[in-house]
Amino acid sequence: MPLDRIFLALLHRLDPERAHGLTIAALRAGLVTPPPRAPDPILASTLWGLRFPTPLGLAAGFDKNAMVMKAMLGLGFGFVEVGSVTPRPQSGNAKPRIFRLPEDGAVINRLGFNNEGQAAAEARLEAFRAGQAGIVGVNLGQNKDSDDAAADYVSGVSSLGPLADYLVINVSSPNTPGLRALQGRAALEDLLTRVTAVRDALPSTHRPPLVLKIAPDLSAADKEDIAGVALAARIDGLARSHTTLARPDHLTGRHRGEAGGLSGRPLFGPSTAVLSEFTSLTGGKIPLIGIGGVASAADAYAKIRAGACLVQLYSALIYHGPGLVSEITHGLADLLRRDGFSSIGEAVGCGQT
Ligand SMILES: Cc1cc2nc3c(=O)[nH]c(=O)nc-3n(C[C@H](O)[C@H](O)[C@H](O)COP(=O)(O)O)c2cc1C
Repeated sequence: MPLDRIFLALLHRLDPERAHGLTIAALRAGLVTPPPRAPDPILASTLWGLRFPTPLGLAAGFDKNAMVMKAMLGLGFGFVEVGSVTPRPQSGNAKPRIFRLPEDGAVINRLGFNNEGQAAAEARLEAFRAGQAGIVGVNLGQNKDSDDAAADYVSGVSSLGPLADYLVINVSSPNTPGLRALQGRAALEDLLTRVTAVRDALPSTHRPPLVLKIAPDLSAADKEDIAGVALAARIDGLARSHTTLARPDHLTGRHRGEAGGLSGRPLFGPSTAVLSEFTSLTGGKIPLIGIGGVASAADAYAKIRAGACLVQLYSALIYHGPGLVSEITHGLADLLRRDGFSSIGEAVGCGQT
């Protein structure tokens, strides 16, 4: 058995949050180093003026405190998203708050934005920027006890915006009471007006694109509202999607009844279906990031064909380990060639295979 499979098997004997802490420590110590293979040029694309070496990125939540950006880029991710970062540090919900559902390839979490806050993230991002290349997005959240959610995002945009290649306004975590209400039309209009004004006031050399991350649990009317508001606010990207509150009947893992957001394989179908829906709702005018249940090259390819310019994953890393990243990118390059594409951009939104 290869070393990383042994490490993974040992980690799965531990409580998920402890296993995550050990993984971060191992990454920081440089102990997880897969064989370096240069990204296939067919996977490169340019979005927001940034050259993405591959479309596969690390989703938010893995590196909440901007500790392992370099190590994760080294695994072969084309970009890494850190956070969610809230203005002040907060400890999140009571433990245990992460649950594995191995039979379902899924995870349930109700972490509640546990993170060390903006100042800690800012210091680490500054150090990273001083010595390292690579695309790093910053995902912003609000403090649980905040009485002006929009002000928390505004604070994140002004302090972390200059250090981010792109910013994500995350209004879709199910674990912060009231947060998803920000996806309603009036609240979203107010929020996006305020954050875009602050972003636009940043110096032109440090003015990142703004991406809105939304929930999968939305009614048809919600989706239309979000698309309309995002277009009017000239948002630069939409990320679909966060974890779901739904509990499909087919789940068998013993933790399926735990409260929190469900991610991983059960999210793949529903989150991919709405990607194409959003492509038509926005007339293809807003770049989409496809997230939810990606665990193979075929999954990533399906998201791209459904309209995603970029793809992210998190839960599959828990079950497949770091080797999955190069497995997906190399498999994706093969799929593109098989179907006669000469670049990833040609496949975006091409429909089902
Ligand atoms: C343990 C855990 C923590 C997460 N924390 C965050 C977070 O802080 N901010 C965020 O926007 N998304 C967070 N997510 C959601 C992921 O970024 C992603 O949207 C979701 O898990 C679906 O992708 P996946 O099926 O590949 O995991 C978290 C997911 C997990 C599993």
